[in-house]
Amino acid sequence: MPDATTTLGGIGHSVKRKEDPRFLRGLGKYIDDVKLPGMLFMDIVRSPHAHARILSIDSSEALKVPGVVAVVTGKELEAAGLHWMPTLMSDTQMVLPTDRVCYQSQEVACVLAEDRYAAADGAAAVQVEYEALPPILDPIKALEPDAPLVRPDKDKKSNHIWHWEVGDREATQRAFDASDVVVAQDIYIPRIHVASIETCGCVASMDRVSGKLTVWMTTQAPHAIRTVFSLVSKIPEHKIRVISPDIGGGFGGKVPVYPGYVCAVVAALVTGRPVKWIEDRSENLQADSFARDYHIHAELAADNNGKMQGLRIKTIADHGYADAAANPSKFPAGLFSICTGSYDMPNAHVEVDGVYTNKPPGGIAYRCSFRVTEAVHTIERMVDSLALKLNMDPAELRSKNFIHPEQFPYRSALGWEYDSGNYQAALDKAKAMIGYDDLRREQVEKRARGELMGIGISTFTEIVGAGPSHTFDILGIKMFDSAEIRVHPTGSAIVRIGVQTQGQGHETTFAQIVAEELGLPVDNIEVEHGDTDTAPYGLGTYASRSTPTAGAATAMAARKIREKAMHLAAHLLEVSVDDLEWKDYQFQVRGAPERFKTMADLAFAAYTNHPQGMEAGLEAVCYYDPPNLTFPFGAYIAVVDIDRGTGEVKVRRFVAVDDCGTVINPMIVEGQVHGGLTMGLAPALYEQIWYDEAGNIHGGTLMDYLVPTAMETPRWETDRTVTPSPHHPLGAKGVGESATVGAPPAIVNAVVDALSHLEVTHLDIPITPPRLWRLLQEKGVAL
Ligand code: CDP
Repeated sequence: MPDATTTLGGIGHSVKRKEDPRFLRGLGKYIDDVKLPGMLFMDIVRSPHAHARILSIDSSEALKVPGVVAVVTGKELEAAGLHWMPTLMSDTQMVLPTDRVCYQSQEVACVLAEDRYAAADGAAAVQVEYEALPPILDPIKALEPDAPLVRPDKDKKSNHIWHWEVGDREATQRAFDASDVVVAQDIYIPRIHVASIETCGCVASMDRVSGKLTVWMTTQAPHAIRTVFSLVSKIPEHKIRVISPDIGGGFGGKVPVYPGYVCAVVAALVTGRPVKWIEDRSENLQADSFARDYHIHAELAADNNGKMQGLRIKTIADHGYADAAANPSKFPAGLFSICTGSYDMPNAHVEVDGVYTNKPPGGIAYRCSFRVTEAVHTIERMVDSLALKLNMDPAELRSKNFIHPEQFPYRSALGWEYDSGNYQAALDKAKAMIGYDDLRREQVEKRARGELMGIGISTFTEIVGAGPSHTFDILGIKMFDSAEIRVHPTGSAIVRIGVQTQGQGHETTFAQIVAEELGLPVDNIEVEHGDTDTAPYGLGTYASRSTPTAGAATAMAARKIREKAMHLAAHLLEVSVDDLEWKDYQFQVRGAPERFKTMADLAFAAYTNHPQGMEAGLEAVCYYDPPNLTFPFGAYIAVVDIDRGTGEVKVRRFVAVDDCGTVINPMIVEGQVHGGLTMGLAPALYEQIWYDEAGNIHGGTLMDYLVPTAMETPRWETDRTVTPSPHHPLGAKGVGESATVGAPPAIVNAVVDALSHLEVTHLDIPITPPRLWRLLQEKGVAL
């Protein structure tokens, strides 16, 4: 028989996801399911060139296509001052160009038609005359003094966007001078794409009677988008409603505002008819924001015993033709400065330079809160390089340098205050699960037989939960988050949150938080989000911030309700509030537990029997500004075998021990980790977007952008340790992106480990079979 807490479904229960019945039955409501009377469809004409002057755009043939209603070009938008728009990093980006295109697949014109097919035919009939210009694709060359300008529209006559540095340069230099060993490495982390199942799109509709603009759109941050739309269009904010319906994966790619959204909104305003725009797969892969593209040079100094003394990193960040990342304005390189990792690093200095090139806007946080993936990859690779140089076991070297539990809260050399951690416990667990010592023995035997087997470790620290608002913002809007709870008279409740699920299961986990705090069964609690007319203002979901921010807001709003309910209970039980205690999910009279009131009793009383002088109703709202970020962590160990005949890397085993503090729903957390591990495997072995010399994209279709399928994905072995966050009301830390951050270096370290006896010290990702096979040939071990 289920006990009371199981029925309640509070924190720690693997409650089945409330949203799954609709998803599994194909009853989710995505953008493309929105159909309005009189709706027009929009398609986009895109540039075949990476860099070109536009000589002319001729729409006459397109307008003859049956069903085509209008063609919109940059010239039309220019007349309304809408041909440029701000990016979320306060840079500027073209909505539609008037004279130049800056990357292949850039939007050039929009065609509006009665149906999608007519719009596509119309787009194919628009004739654009270009004069091709040489593209600038290499960010290092783009920094040379005589390099042609990607952005001649800017005052600064250079392709350099910004310089950012943190840490103590001189102290780090002194640490390097005094150290016994230094390892140095160039690391390239290539462009990749979020490749979410659902592409981007929107439906924009202007109600001429009410004067209200409604935009259904694939956005991870509906409120922030509403504010930006209002500021740019001058439409009063209360006359704009942004609705994010079900979203088929976001991963950061649905945070930026793309030109297609703006064109659809403008078209709806001008034509007076609803307008739908849905990207196809190639458009999504070729023109939406990209992640990574970091050219890193890292150096790590240590003494002969392996104690780390200093870390120094210089990075060139390729942002494409516009800096359209979604980083807080104080952190143009995001949270890259978490790069000292889980280690007690006394000195560090980091520099990053942002650069323009003729590629689509890049730099979004792709399942990594603001460049944490790049930071973790760098430090975890450097630790292994150091272990190799010192001929020390990489697990032992890590243990020697971990920040110890008693050092928390720990201030890193680059300024972060880590909230809590127990790195050795996680590594010990992972080693025990995988049988580390046996594997090392097996490796020695296999190596003697000429077989290539490697073991790779990653003991990463994440940083998630943006705010706090004093340091974090999006375009000046401070980062906090919110929840509003209304308990109905019959004891059910509705929870509205300022974050926006894209598959993470918020409708379940946020209900569990309320169930735990109020003692109402999870089945009686409904969670709503993604509608700016109903949800409280929030900054949206990305970078695993939902649980640390809106999760905390939900707990705090529930606690406000519990406080009021306590006064109601005192009134009904005719005792003082001091005589009451909250126990077993009800208010009991101390020493007389048979006298109690449940939350359902109190909800009814709040509307029917509240005392004189007390407001009716039982509801609360909380805007939660976290005092700090949360610092989840993990210890991952991968075992790989390399096929000497093909260069294929086979991940034989992968153990992931994660720690995200208090776990709200263990099943959902496990699912998040499984998904994240697969998204970590992807860039390590398969995924890359690259450009040839003419600026043509490679990886712009799913034929050549190799998203791993179930066939390539190994069986993940997961477990956890629990080190609660001391400042989060529930002790919870975010988890969504941990595995994406932690997995790639574990796999790369394993491959390098398999080849370390052949003087291989580093491999850039993705480690594809052709690349590896060539290396095996060079080393004389290919079959
Ligand atoms: O912001 P996002 O939802 O992507 O990331 P998250 O806060 O890490 O949460 C991902 C999912 O895991 C949500 O459904 C969370 O409520 C759940 N979760 C959990 O059950 N326990 C945690 N300690 C952290 C997240």
